[in-house]
Amino acid sequence: MFRSRMWPFLLLVINLKGADPRQLALQRGVDLGTAVDAQHLSESQYAAVLASQYSQVEPENEMKWRIIHPAPGVYSFAAGDAIVNFAVQHGMKVRGHTLTGDTQLPAWLSDPGLTPSGLQTILEEHITTVVKHYAGRVYAWDVLNEAYADDGTLLPGIWLNTPGIGVPGTGYMELALRWAHAADPAARLFYNDEDDTGLGITPKTDAIYRMAQDFLSRGVPLHGIGMQMHVTAGGVSIPGLVANIKRLTDLGLEVQITEMDVRLPVANLAGASAAELDSQAQVYHDVASACLQFPKCTAIQTWGFTDRYSWIPTAFPGFGDALPLDINYQPKPAWNSIADALASPSTASPANYYRISSGQFLNMGSRSTGAIAPGEMLYFAAPSGPGALVQGSPAAGKYPNSLAGMQVTFDGVPAPLIAAQNGFVIAVAPYEIAAHSSAAVQFDYLGNSSNPISLPVEPAVPGLFTATSTGAGAGLIFDRNFALVSASNPARAGDLIFLSITGEGVSQPAGVTGLSQPYRIFTPLEPLSVTIGGVPAAVAVVWSGPAGLPGMSQIGVYVPPGIPAGNAPVSVRLGGASTQAAVTVALR
Ligand code: G3I
Repeated sequence: MFRSRMWPFLLLVINLKGADPRQLALQRGVDLGTAVDAQHLSESQYAAVLASQYSQVEPENEMKWRIIHPAPGVYSFAAGDAIVNFAVQHGMKVRGHTLTGDTQLPAWLSDPGLTPSGLQTILEEHITTVVKHYAGRVYAWDVLNEAYADDGTLLPGIWLNTPGIGVPGTGYMELALRWAHAADPAARLFYNDEDDTGLGITPKTDAIYRMAQDFLSRGVPLHGIGMQMHVTAGGVSIPGLVANIKRLTDLGLEVQITEMDVRLPVANLAGASAAELDSQAQVYHDVASACLQFPKCTAIQTWGFTDRYSWIPTAFPGFGDALPLDINYQPKPAWNSIADALASPSTASPANYYRISSGQFLNMGSRSTGAIAPGEMLYFAAPSGPGALVQGSPAAGKYPNSLAGMQVTFDGVPAPLIAAQNGFVIAVAPYEIAAHSSAAVQFDYLGNSSNPISLPVEPAVPGLFTATSTGAGAGLIFDRNFALVSASNPARAGDLIFLSITGEGVSQPAGVTGLSQPYRIFTPLEPLSVTIGGVPAAVAVVWSGPAGLPGMSQIGVYVPPGIPAGNAPVSVRLGGASTQAAVTVALR
């Protein structure tokens, strides 16, 4: 009897032994964890894999309000205790989940007769009772869970405002942390949340970061941030995740990956393809590697471990196969990839973290890649950055060289930055590269640098700004009253119009890198000519225009006579280089 029941386990454990992530994890100083469902602990295969392969467990639902506190004053610890007892028996750690912010709240909490002060008493009593019950056995708690919306505002909810516990903003979060700390001063207290991109730099994670900064500065007992990581195979921004782990651990906080799963489209129960399983494995590997770069990232935990039991097919119909072991507890590529990450030294060298290439640098006007010119305004498709748009504003007349933790350097000279957001930076190539035939360009965000890339430097790389910022169509062209020239405001022969341009190169008098100088009049050193409708147009002035934005100039030209009404092509030539084709000006 014993033999026949044990055989499947032994085979399984032997099978999984090739890659022993639990041991590898412990050697690397992280816990390998999983959510568990108490009702499966009696299943021998489930229990055997759990006990042999994981060092940490977290009840998937059993410590949530509806289960643990089903009626006023009534606590039901049986299911939670079953998990904790299993863990203690097998030398595993337990994370408790969750004291606020879960969707499984009991109906009695919605009693319309409850007042904020009554609710405050209930929450304090709940946290105190539950945390004390598990003190010494649950080492970490998700005190707070999913409090923020994607835009970084606090989500409405029972504790905040319906009816709320009578304190504004993050006040309920602070009280919850203080009550949990009082109930078990040794417990590690976490804020836990999710995000479509894993947990990169987004308005939501910016808000979490600010909350954490605020709490730490005021001595509120917050010890860590849980990153849930319910993602798709294409969905995680690893540089964003790394930047977020870095800034949180730099605050002194612990970070844990708490609920990872990588859902795959599963059509007609056919299961995921080999390619999909490989791309899933890559995501598990990369998230594990990201965590392993940081000593304060202390756990890699999945939301279940076998595809036999997962919340995904119910919550995301048409998706499944999200976990590292298949429905028969056999290792998938994801299982081995986690082991690979645990077995390898961190792949990213801190000095060279982001991978960038020359194709990510575009002329801000033409949107073309290639050579750059001194003073040219560039659009850089950055691999990471702040969640919300940050605009540079000049200090003592100069645009900043660092914006929201970002820097772009050209041969070591920091570029003035006009604006930045996760995904792009608008930077101006410094005039200091004028004598160079190429420039080594490097990006840095929150202390993580990219590889340097080499961009050829030319005297001029002119690009016309366009009204739609696409590099084609109607030019960003103004009349003498600074109104946009367009189909409804066409220019006529003899009119003075101003073409917006970048990349004209150095000039006389010389421009100063980053300096904001409205109406600075200058002469480009490269010979300048303009045609409209193919006809040469007389140049009246070249200046920086009313905005005085570094890298953006205006060429004032007179519209030549004899050009048919409609959209006439505009072209600017500086030395040997011309602006892009397909830019037009509306003429009447
Ligand atoms: O147990 C009842 C059962 O008695 C009843 O017949 C059945 C009918 O609906 O529902 C069962 O409860 C379900 C429970 O899971 C247990 O299976 C709930 O309806 C269902 O809503 C609940 O879903 C859980 C969900 O949180 C909501 O609390 C998922 O299992 C659980 O994986 C999920 O976990 C959350 C984390 O707590 C926080 N982060 C996101 C994560 C995924 O949503």
